[in-house]
Amino acid sequence: MNYQRLLVTAALPYANGPVHIGHLAGCYLPADIYVRYQRAQGRDVKFICGSDEHGVPITIRAMKEGVSPQQVVDKFHALIRDSFADMGISFDIYSRTSATLHHETAQAFFKKLYDEGLFEEHESEQYFDPEKQVFLADRYIIGTCPVCQNPNAYGDQCERCGSSLSPEQLINPRSALSESVPEKRKTKHWYFPLNRYEDWLREWIVEGKKGEWKSNVYGQCKSWIDAGLQPRAMTRDSSWGVPVPLECAEGKVLYVWFDAPIGYISATKELTPMWSDYWQREDTKLVHFIGKDNIVFHCIIFPAMLKAHGGFVLPDAVPANEFLNIEGEKVSTSRNWAVWVHEYLNDFPGGADMLRYVLCANAPETKDNDFTWKDFQTRINSELNSNLGNFVNRAMVMMHKLCKGKVPPMHVNHIDEKDAELAAAISVAKKEIESSIEAYRFRDALAEIMLLSTKGNKYLQEKEPWQLAKRLNATGTPASAEAVEAQVQIDNCIYFCLQLCANLAIFIAPFLPDTATKMCHMMKVVDRMLQWENGGRPDLLKVGYSLREPEILFRKIEDAEVLAQVEKLRSGGTKPTTQLPASKPQEPVNTQLVSASKAPISFDEFAKIELKTGTILTAEKIEKADKLLKLQIDLGTEQRTIVSGIAQHYQPDEIVGRQVSVVVNLAPRKMKGIESAGMILMAEDEDGKLVFVSPVQAVRAGAEIR
Ligand code: MF3
Ligand code: ZN
Repeated sequence: MNYQRLLVTAALPYANGPVHIGHLAGCYLPADIYVRYQRAQGRDVKFICGSDEHGVPITIRAMKEGVSPQQVVDKFHALIRDSFADMGISFDIYSRTSATLHHETAQAFFKKLYDEGLFEEHESEQYFDPEKQVFLADRYIIGTCPVCQNPNAYGDQCERCGSSLSPEQLINPRSALSESVPEKRKTKHWYFPLNRYEDWLREWIVEGKKGEWKSNVYGQCKSWIDAGLQPRAMTRDSSWGVPVPLECAEGKVLYVWFDAPIGYISATKELTPMWSDYWQREDTKLVHFIGKDNIVFHCIIFPAMLKAHGGFVLPDAVPANEFLNIEGEKVSTSRNWAVWVHEYLNDFPGGADMLRYVLCANAPETKDNDFTWKDFQTRINSELNSNLGNFVNRAMVMMHKLCKGKVPPMHVNHIDEKDAELAAAISVAKKEIESSIEAYRFRDALAEIMLLSTKGNKYLQEKEPWQLAKRLNATGTPASAEAVEAQVQIDNCIYFCLQLCANLAIFIAPFLPDTATKMCHMMKVVDRMLQWENGGRPDLLKVGYSLREPEILFRKIEDAEVLAQVEKLRSGGTKPTTQLPASKPQEPVNTQLVSASKAPISFDEFAKIELKTGTILTAEKIEKADKLLKLQIDLGTEQRTIVSGIAQHYQPDEIVGRQVSVVVNLAPRKMKGIESAGMILMAEDEDGKLVFVSPVQAVRAGAEIR
């Protein structure tokens, strides 16, 4: 099939919390890379996303925090939208499902199916809260978990032991809304007859997509279809959501998984009056980027809905990724075991490309993967910096030193095997990158680009233009045959290095857009050079063209930053909530020192304590002292041994490199036979956990604390 246009969607995130880096790695980053690449190819593409603002998790959060569902979604919609924008995720539209246009679109969709008599009406027994007079979704029923005795398990799942449950299994069930004991009541709902689409789905997916769709996606679909499909309720009893557009449906809303995917259509409508070209013309290629927990909804339920409605295109591919764990553990929002995108950007300002690099290089494309801060540091320092950053920098510096800041001439008759190899590698890489991206293998594509950069470094290392320059200087006479030969070799080497820089900018642009922009700036070319069709050629920068001074493309990640991030995770960080911070800090009402328990001291007395920032150089256990660690501390001008009572809170390995606050004028004292010269400051949490009191940004060892 020859496609005329592409419609790319990324799963609408629930607006009940911020997005974390697992969301990015699983769905939004691959989608963005794909779209940026397609745009660079000059293809007609629309990239659609928005917030999913309905559903039980949002009402639960509102209830827990004592705010309205609207307040919850308003807060998180804005936060999520901004996080995506700051990460360079280049949606053509980021809409939301509380939009009127969406409500109308979803209702019209439902109504059409209803009018055609598609839905089956069924009455069933559901839990009902007699006090609040509402039906309760399984999530709203709380009780004791029969497996682990957690007293606050939900009617669908126990978050402590992970068991999936039904409300009937809970011991002493109670309503999450009122604490009253729920009753069963009859209620009527509209069911979509998925069973009637089973044969069609089998033919379309099980037979039609074999070997074409990713195996994780295909496998899940096949086992669903093989298990047999059942009618599924498309309405719920709730006051939050898209109201069911029927007279007899007071207090009922559309099931969130009915309305949310229609959100892709409403957002496209909002974006362009030509929306139906993208949704209703057969020569559109529709691609849904999602995480693996969304597979059945995008491959089975939504396509069946589209098929039932008629007139819509179906997805050509659903490249779902697996999950990204953090430091070896599953992401858990309740434990705050997550790296929130907005917090990352706060801690690493301008660090979007660094994170994009790491998340793509380590993307969970075929299996769950692990993100660790140590790996983040290694990839930034020894891949981005030492490979790509280093090559671009060396090429630019060398061009300024040896070629007067201009693209040198290329001497065709002097092209040697190495030059030809490099030129060939550029054009081969282009093809490889293309086919990997078209097949949704973004890790492979990125690895191919880095390999090309490695080849550039190797080429430069073998050609050693700096040695040629020495030879040239040594001859003294610029016109000598030897000098001419050296200059010719320098020219060709720098020429090819610069052409490789230009190509690297084109290839890396979908992955690291800010980096590509910086490279264009250095090469004094406009962004238009980044069009894909320019890639693969070794003659992009014209001879004699003068280039700017090189800028550093990436920065190094320090040990202290990595340790601080791991510490933040382990200490539980600050949980994101709907409550905005109080706008003004409260003035103290009186001068009594309410939070101090010791007698007041004068300023002079305080000034007697000398505090400095130190860096832990080594840490080791002390025999027969299970609470103590022996630390070697760098104070800039000296090193000291300090014995600290933190052995039950930290492993020696995990604290090396950390910056700490040290009382440096405390009289030395012996502990377990070791002289301790000073004290490390620790904060004690309510459960007795000790946490380092450290500067929030790295400072030099020995910096005074005042
Ligand atoms: N909100 C869902 C989630 O975060 C995804 C919805 S995708 C859509 O898992 F297709 F329904 F929009
Ligand atoms: Zn449990």
